[in-house]
Amino acid sequence: MQDYILSQTAATLQRSVMRDLMALAVSPDILSLAGGLPASEVLPGQEFSQSLERVLSRDGAAAMQYGPPWMPLREWIAGFMRGKGVACSAENIFITNGAQQALAILSRLFCDPGDTAVIEAITFTGVQQVTLGRRLNVHTVPTDLDSGVDVGALEHAFRTHRPKLAVLIPNFHNPMGVTISREKRERIVALAAEYRVPVVEDDPYSPLRFMGEAMPPLKAMDEEGMVFYIGSFSKMLMPAARLGWIVGPAELADRITVLRESIDLESSQLIQRAVHDFVQEGRLEAYLDRLNSTNLRRRQVLMQALETHFAPLGARWTKPEGGLFAWITLPEHIDAWQRFETAVQQKVAYIPGAAFAVQGGHRNTLRLNFSNITEEHIREAIRRLAQVFSAA
Ligand SMILES: Cc1ncc(COP(=O)(O)O)c(C=O)c1O
Repeated sequence: MQDYILSQTAATLQRSVMRDLMALAVSPDILSLAGGLPASEVLPGQEFSQSLERVLSRDGAAAMQYGPPWMPLREWIAGFMRGKGVACSAENIFITNGAQQALAILSRLFCDPGDTAVIEAITFTGVQQVTLGRRLNVHTVPTDLDSGVDVGALEHAFRTHRPKLAVLIPNFHNPMGVTISREKRERIVALAAEYRVPVVEDDPYSPLRFMGEAMPPLKAMDEEGMVFYIGSFSKMLMPAARLGWIVGPAELADRITVLRESIDLESSQLIQRAVHDFVQEGRLEAYLDRLNSTNLRRRQVLMQALETHFAPLGARWTKPEGGLFAWITLPEHIDAWQRFETAVQQKVAYIPGAAFAVQGGHRNTLRLNFSNITEEHIREAIRRLAQVFSAA
């Protein structure tokens, strides 16, 4: 074995505990609430294969070549964002390979190692990878389970730490399922402008709303250009498209483009064109209807099962109006991390909430995914989990 001397970044970057846990939970006899995947049976296989065929016969070699970001797709995304109230045109849209790459680019755009970034104390592990994982100095703020990030704490962090970047997940938070309230959104945009802190609005989930009233993006309220919106086709169409986008100022196009090129040159021409074909044929609406009605049914079954089996344990949970996740808080003395192995022995899996906790703790919490498991299996999984958590 060679003694390699690794970069500090490579040596510091933590393996995502979540990926390890999910690897444990893939065996087919396990009822898994651990993933974050759309329902496999709903994915638009047939329609997308038609888009692929159409693009290949229409564009031939150009669809298989290197090429600049596909302008018709940028234009479509700009229209989609205008539909959400964001004033933008194609020159404001930067295509990436998924939201994760957009996070990596924006982290590099604003921060060098040692710079300060503000993130939520409980957040998606990918947000931790592009901040802690890049050796940024991370300051965390708490999140209210009803109304989203604590804006008082955010203001305090902006005032006292003068961060170079903040990253928030506004809709159907991963992992907590919560959505930032309208009042808080206005406040966050005002704080970004007042303290000149670029706020990344990481929003892969807003198209997955299955009930309640849509919220305007932070970016729609941003008159000072301090909000950087991230969207993704992963959750609204298919993860394997590996396509996302940033909405940002055209004047940063050159910097964003070189940063992106330094990572992986460009996105696939074939996939960009096929995704564009799919959406401009008007197929997205029908697909989202199918996806969201499946998610809603599963969410309702989960909520009922929690009421039946978890309420007697003294547990509380978030009630998401969209997205893929609910967040459960058990009584303090129940350690969801420690009970994970027992759960897997009982053929049921979840992600312990502590896996998302930037500074540890929160061992009495867990994240449950309801999108890629049948209604019958949700009922049975929750029944088994209640037994695991009620055992002395
Ligand atoms: C909040 C959040 N941001 C970003 C991502 C990464 O998404 P993508 O597949 O578009 O890279 C995810 C994926 O689960 C997520 O939950």
